[in-house]
Amino acid sequence: MSKVKHFLQFKDFTREEFDYLFERSRWIKAQFKSYKQYWPLSDRTLVMIFEKASTRTRLSFEAGMQQLGGSAIYLNTRDSQLGRGEPVEDAAQVISRMSDVVMIRTFEQEIIERFAANSRVPVINGLTNEYHPCQIMADIFTFIEQRGPIQGKTVAWIGDSNNVCNTWLQAAEVLDFNVHVSTPPGYEVEAERAGLYGTDHFEQFEDPMEAAEFADLVTTDVWTSMGFEAENEERMRDFADWQVDTEMMRIARPDAVFMHCLPAHRGEEVSAAVIDGPQSVVWEEAENRLHVQKALMEYLLLGRVNI
Ligand code: CP
Ligand code: NVA
Repeated sequence: MSKVKHFLQFKDFTREEFDYLFERSRWIKAQFKSYKQYWPLSDRTLVMIFEKASTRTRLSFEAGMQQLGGSAIYLNTRDSQLGRGEPVEDAAQVISRMSDVVMIRTFEQEIIERFAANSRVPVINGLTNEYHPCQIMADIFTFIEQRGPIQGKTVAWIGDSNNVCNTWLQAAEVLDFNVHVSTPPGYEVEAERAGLYGTDHFEQFEDPMEAAEFADLVTTDVWTSMGFEAENEERMRDFADWQVDTEMMRIARPDAVFMHCLPAHRGEEVSAAVIDGPQSVVWEEAENRLHVQKALMEYLLLGRVNI
């Protein structure tokens, strides 16, 4: 069982594997855009388990699997035995005997790791409290499409040091770029929780404007992630000065792009002028979830295919 390849966090794959996956994503996207049928996963089944809400992740995995010729089954905590205390290990044994690949969105990373340890098939992290690796795959693919290689570039992360931030930090180590992070006091990056090898690829700034200076990509996320709703009121106060606005985009490089994993709250972590403005690539970014995840599922199920 231990030989099965999973994608539980960004650093599970090497730089060389990402180079391959981005190349495949480009090809798969081109097929899709020219309405060419490509069904390498016919008869394969994806099970998607959601313990938190989703629009993009569900849609991109479900549509993606169908477009590759397979089928997808949606399970959530509310309507399955998962919500009634069935051990995650037992669920993994059963679900992985009836499917070919599993995607999970849940709370602690530990849950997905226990599932994977008991799964006969590849497991994909569709977001945990700690990480969101599929999102950052899509974000980096989008950056490469828009601006070329990301190696050596600077990403400014403004706001909460959450699952998406942690994954940017891991990606910086794997793909050799830099992340400038600015969080309010008390919300700083915890290198261990982020699963980092060191601190060479990121720098923390008290002032968000300093973090954004000369950045090639400016990005942010909601102030309150799913699972942390009880802190919402406090966070609204603490994060008030951590909004990506026009002034902040002006201090970044003139050709900087703006990204947001979505859903966004205009007037909180980002101003409407930025997210709806000319530097924003959020719709391309959202669409690319579909293409990169198709490449990911193809890779986990079929290995490298000859192009
Ligand atoms: N960005 C993202 O994962 O969106 P959903 O929560 O809609 O899946
Ligand atoms: N950080 C957010 C991302 C949602 C896609 C959350 O975890 O709720």
